[in-house]
Amino acid sequence: MNKLVVANWKSNPLNEKEAVALAKASDFENVVICPPYPFLKSIGESINKASLGAQDVFWGNLGAYTGEVSWRQLLELGVKYVIIGHSERRIYLKETDELINNKLIAALEAGLKVILCVGEPREIRDKGMSAAKNYIEQQLDKDLIGFNELTSHRANELIIAYEPIWAIGTGVPEKLEDTIEMVTFIKKLLVMRYKLSVKVLYGGSVNSVNAKEILGAEIIDGALVGGASLKPEEFRRIVV
Ligand code: PGA
Repeated sequence: MNKLVVANWKSNPLNEKEAVALAKASDFENVVICPPYPFLKSIGESINKASLGAQDVFWGNLGAYTGEVSWRQLLELGVKYVIIGHSERRIYLKETDELINNKLIAALEAGLKVILCVGEPREIRDKGMSAAKNYIEQQLDKDLIGFNELTSHRANELIIAYEPIWAIGTGVPEKLEDTIEMVTFIKKLLVMRYKLSVKVLYGGSVNSVNAKEILGAEIIDGALVGGASLKPEEFRRIVV
């Protein structure tokens, strides 16, 4: 399969032993494993086929930034991908588009591949598809300020994950035809704004039952998987 599958473990599992076992069971080509920071080193040493990703990054270099993890430290650990702007960080950590934009530019300039998450809340989607598209367009415009000034080599390292917030962790993904419409919209927008064809993933309740259909859609370049990435057999069936 030539689609990208990103395992977003969020704040799981409990300890290094469990994390390494899960990583070994998820070690496939075209997979990015994004564990919590404490497990990055041992997982980097345990995987051969999958790539290592982080769930966040700080925009600053080394220095006086209490509690933050710099892109320099991630690079040192062999991290290749970083998720930025996940809705859980936007909601629980109150991350703003401005902060997300700073992280995105710093990470791309550092040579990391960025998976930028965008997605609308339920109340927006209830107003219809065009309200949702409007919301996504505004998020992308704010999160990608300064993107045009990057060299094309750096700009090519951007991946978008479209994750409607109301579909995350619910067991029910968005209707496939709506995902296809939104992914098409995002791709066209980025070509228009930045003359760039960007990979767009879908995230929100992807599991072994619906993955075939979602990943089978030509326009969808892969999936960002949360809950199902914590169950080895379930994850294997999504990927293989
Ligand atoms: P989920 O999470 O697969 O559990 O819905 C996806 C995500 O939040 O990235």
